[in-house]
Amino acid sequence: MLLLGIDTSCDDTSAAIVEDGSVIVSNVVSNQDMIHNKYGGIVPELASRRHIEMILPVVDEAFNIANVKFQDISAIAFTYGPGLIGSLLVGSCFAKSLSYVHKIPTVAVNHLEGHICSIFLEEKPEFPFIALVISGGHTSIYLVEDFGEYSEIGRTRDDAAGEAYDKVAKFLGFGYPGGPIIDKMASMGDPEAIRFPRAKLKKGLDFSFSGLKTSVLNYVKKHPESRKEDIAAGFQASVVDVLTDRAIEVAKLKGVESIVLSGGVAANRALREGMLDKTSANGIKTYLPSLRLCTDNAAMIAAAGYHQFIKGNISDYSLNPKAYLPLGKKA
Ligand code: KG4
Ligand code: ZN
Repeated sequence: MLLLGIDTSCDDTSAAIVEDGSVIVSNVVSNQDMIHNKYGGIVPELASRRHIEMILPVVDEAFNIANVKFQDISAIAFTYGPGLIGSLLVGSCFAKSLSYVHKIPTVAVNHLEGHICSIFLEEKPEFPFIALVISGGHTSIYLVEDFGEYSEIGRTRDDAAGEAYDKVAKFLGFGYPGGPIIDKMASMGDPEAIRFPRAKLKKGLDFSFSGLKTSVLNYVKKHPESRKEDIAAGFQASVVDVLTDRAIEVAKLKGVESIVLSGGVAANRALREGMLDKTSANGIKTYLPSLRLCTDNAAMIAAAGYHQFIKGNISDYSLNPKAYLPLGKKA
């Protein structure tokens, strides 16, 4: 069964065709980094305008690469939240229009569920597992008991991990997105040269990254002569420690033996290595999607949509996109 996936939640326009929620037939992503780079962050109005320009060619290309026609598609899965509302509107209106014209049902997908399901395009982790969704807009940790069964164990109280990367990069004078640049700079620096704090909230399993970000900014103001590579490495070491330690703590607490990483920050090299090292020392298996499936893409939306579709979850045209859309129940 083939599903068309569409994602325009943030600054990437993406369309994909996926078979049975697990085999990528095509996955086209048009990114807008060049547009937002000079502003040091995403400009929402520019993002939605670019989606309008790109959505048709991107969907066309997904069909061309897959070499299939609309008649071959069983359902259209699209992201209806969370994300930038202007961006979400473009993808959801486009999905509904295609659905109406071609008489194909739509499945509305939560972008965060899409990130978690990205791993099923490459591997088959057994349930239950712990999933970290670490992106530019979100940092949350879930207990995943089945497709569609998510309990949020913790989330960031302030900045998302990717947002902290982007803000620190902007402050250091690097472009947007900051994650890949800091990842590269950090590999040339000494992670022990400067020790930044590891935020641990006194109660609960939430995250916090704004204190770390402020501490990096204050350090740079006080020590303008320090090497940017060392600052990047020190900052990154703190993020990696916090994420890996919390993921292992939650896995032990819930008696779960697998951890799945997802979201743009899961593409980070130090995090991937750190996670593999620490989890194997604790008898836990880590699942890492390949880099192109960590950042936003529509294949993950089609994967999540497939499991809803086979359960009969079809959406109707009255459903509007939502900027704020939590996933699952609060644990
Ligand atoms: O999942 P994603 O593509 O979009 C959202 O849903 O937010 O994640 C984008 C975020 C950005 O903040 C970007 O800086 C970060 O992921 N990112 C990285 C890396 N690649 C992307 N952060 C750290 N290291 C990377 N290699
Ligand atoms: Zn995302």
